[in-house]
Amino acid sequence: MAAKTAAASKSRTTWFTNDRFGMFIHWGLYSMPARHEWVRNRERITNEQYEKYFERFNPDLYDPKEWAKMAKAAGMKYFVITTKHHEGFCLWDSKYTDYKATKTPCRKDLLKAMVDAFRAEGLKVGFYYSLLDWHHPDFPIDKIHPQRDDKAFREKEKKRDVRKYAEYMRNQVTELLTKFGKIDILWFDFSYPGEDGKGHKDWESEKLLKLVRKLQPDIMIDNRLDLPGSGDFETPEQFQPAEGLKDKEGNPVVWEACQTFSGSWGYHRDEMSWREPEELITTLIDCVSKSGNLLLNVGPTARGEFDYRAQERLAKFAEWMKRHDRSIYGCQQAPAEFKCPKGCSLTYNPETRRLYLHILVWPYKHITMEGKAFTSQVEYAQFLHDGSEVAMKGLEEWQSAHKLGGENSLSITLPQMKPNVIVPVVELFLKK
Ligand code: GLC
Repeated sequence: MAAKTAAASKSRTTWFTNDRFGMFIHWGLYSMPARHEWVRNRERITNEQYEKYFERFNPDLYDPKEWAKMAKAAGMKYFVITTKHHEGFCLWDSKYTDYKATKTPCRKDLLKAMVDAFRAEGLKVGFYYSLLDWHHPDFPIDKIHPQRDDKAFREKEKKRDVRKYAEYMRNQVTELLTKFGKIDILWFDFSYPGEDGKGHKDWESEKLLKLVRKLQPDIMIDNRLDLPGSGDFETPEQFQPAEGLKDKEGNPVVWEACQTFSGSWGYHRDEMSWREPEELITTLIDCVSKSGNLLLNVGPTARGEFDYRAQERLAKFAEWMKRHDRSIYGCQQAPAEFKCPKGCSLTYNPETRRLYLHILVWPYKHITMEGKAFTSQVEYAQFLHDGSEVAMKGLEEWQSAHKLGGENSLSITLPQMKPNVIVPVVELFLKK
C-alpha cells in the first residue's frame, strides 16, 4: 500500500512543523568543476572524463563541527545532506561500491563525522539519496543521462538491468538507515516517469518504501518516489507557493520549500546571482506564514568549507533569529479572521496565542489591522527584537477625519525610524 495513514504521518511530522527551518547541503565531486551539480548532464561528461575529480578529491579543510555550529547559530534545527547525488559518488563508506569518499585521496567517511557533529549541536538528521545514478553500470541510459546523445554508447549499454540497480539502491538505503543511528528524514530525488524517463516501476518504489518504513518507522519521507500519497511532505523547489499547500480534499498538507542562495545547489564559483539576506529571511517568514518549512541550501567547496557568501548570509540569519525565532518556531499561518495588513506577513503561535506581524515595508507611522478579531483579541503589542512596547493607538482626534480604517480596526503607532534589524516584528498578545 503506497498511501500512508494520515495519523501516522502527522505524528512523524510534529517535530518538523514545529522546527520550520533546516539546512540542505549539496556536496560531492561536483564541487571541483564548481559549475553546478548537473555539470555531467549539461556538458555530457562521461565517467572516464569525470574520473579526474574522483582521483583528486581531497577536502582537507573539512570541519563538520564548524558547519554544524553555523547551521545551529542560523537557527536551523535539522539538516539534509546529499549522501549520493546524481553523479553517483557516495560520501560514506558503502560496501556496495568503490565510488566513494574513502577511495579518493581524502580517505575518510565524510558522512559519519557530519552526522555526529550535527547531532552534537542538537540538529536532526536528514539523508538525501539520489534515485538517479549517472555512474552506476546497471543504471539504464535515459533522457537525462550525460551520454543520452551517444547512440553507439546507448546501443552498447542497452542491456543494463534496472532491477539490479534497484537492488543496489535498497542495499545502500539499508546501510544508510542501519549504520548512522536514528535518521529523521529521507529525501529521495527524483522521478521523471514517461518516455525515456524513470519512475516508481524502475525504482521499485513500493519495495523501497516498505524497507525504509521497516528499518526506521518514524522517519519522514519526501514525495519524489512517484507514488502518489506516499510522501509525508511536499517539496516545492525554487519557487514559493502562493498560499499554503492543500490536498485534493482541501486539507492543509505538510510542506517544505527547498531554496538556494544563488541558483545552483552544488558549489558554483562563478555564480553571481546571490540573494540578499533580507530576501532570504523574508522567504523563511513567507514559508511559516503559509504553514510551511524552509530548507535552505549550502554548497560547500572542494576543500570542505562553506563559501564565504554563504557564511555571510548564515551570519545574518543568526543575528536575526537570535531575537526573532519566536515568530518562527512553533508558528504557522494565522487564523483567517486575522487579515494581514499590506506590506506585512503574519505568523501565529497557537500554544502561546501570539501573533507576529512581520513588517516588510516600513510604513509612515501607523499600521492598521482590520477586523473585529484584532480589536477584540489583541491585548498588548511589543517589538520582538527589544521587547519595547508598541502603542496600540491610532490617529489623534484631530486627524480622525481621515480615518485609517473602519470602526473595527486596530492601529499601532510605530517609531519614525525602522529598528536596526533586517525585518522588524511586532508581537501581538491575544486574550487567552
Ligand atoms: C533537483 C535537482 C537537484 C537538487 C534537487 C533539490 O531535483 O535535480 O540537483 O538536488 O533539485 O531539490
